[in-house]
Amino acid sequence: MVFCFLWAFLLWFTFRTVNSTKVPVEPRQNWEDVSDKLTRCLSDIRKWMCTNLLKLNQDKTELMVFVPRRSKFVNKNFNINFDGNIICDTESVKNLGMYLDKSLTMEKQCSSVARSCYMHLRRIGSIRPFITEDACKILVNSLVTSRLDYGNALLYGINKQLTNKLQRIQNTTARIITRTRKHDHITPVLINLHWLPVDRRILYKILLNVFKCLNNLAPGYLTELVIPYNPTRVLRSVTANLLTVPSVRTKTYGERRFDKAASTLWNNLPIQLRNAKNIECFKRLLKTHFFRQAYDL
Ligand SMILES: *[C@@H]1O[C@H](CO)[C@@H](O)[C@H](O)[C@H]1NC(C)=O
Repeated sequence: MVFCFLWAFLLWFTFRTVNSTKVPVEPRQNWEDVSDKLTRCLSDIRKWMCTNLLKLNQDKTELMVFVPRRSKFVNKNFNINFDGNIICDTESVKNLGMYLDKSLTMEKQCSSVARSCYMHLRRIGSIRPFITEDACKILVNSLVTSRLDYGNALLYGINKQLTNKLQRIQNTTARIITRTRKHDHITPVLINLHWLPVDRRILYKILLNVFKCLNNLAPGYLTELVIPYNPTRVLRSVTANLLTVPSVRTKTYGERRFDKAASTLWNNLPIQLRNAKNIECFKRLLKTHFFRQAYDL
């Protein structure tokens, strides 16, 4: 599967895989040039795939154009002709199981997660009286929690309604495991289960990736986005293990870039976390940190 992101105004995306390609274009370029550029890019990809004994599936090739919200360079019917196949600009694309939409609201992704989680929760709920709490936890971990956590680093910066939508799933899950009734408070239950709330789980995932980047445990395309802060004069902050924060211009895209989110979150951590000696230690400290923060402990 190949899909092309058109890059306008030099937007960078935090998420690249072998089979997705981003093509930067000048905003003033006319759409025919863009179309030519993309078609050439697709041909190159196909050639590369051929030499590596792979076949480009035209039916699964998708195109999504990103332009800043208030831009006047919008072309509603933009499409490209690839060997007679017309590939139209779509509202969302799916890659590695995650839906990405044009304005990166992640609404489609959250709805899709909610749908499949509730389907499994209904099934688990119907057998709940016949299984133990431990058995229920195992089922929930493999069928629900794994779905809530999958790819959640991409959900950084989503709006409150969507976070609530996902949090409601976690709350329902906790009720099913512990058989807590509808009107009983759920906070003590979440604390007892040692679960971080959904918003903290997103931050946890991003920070874990940062730690991996700094310790050569992450792929190169992520590691290169994490740049240690090296002041020219020797200051106390040398040992503080800080990161360089890039300056960004847009809230929807820029603030949510991996490099921006990663460095900001990392620099806000207490110093003993940034200096954790290994990944196990870091995970433990990070979980405790967010757990206390989330439940005011
Ligand atoms: C889920 O439970 C938490 C903890 O009690 C509560 O603060 C929150 O409002 C609940 N969220 C939703 C969306 O029901």
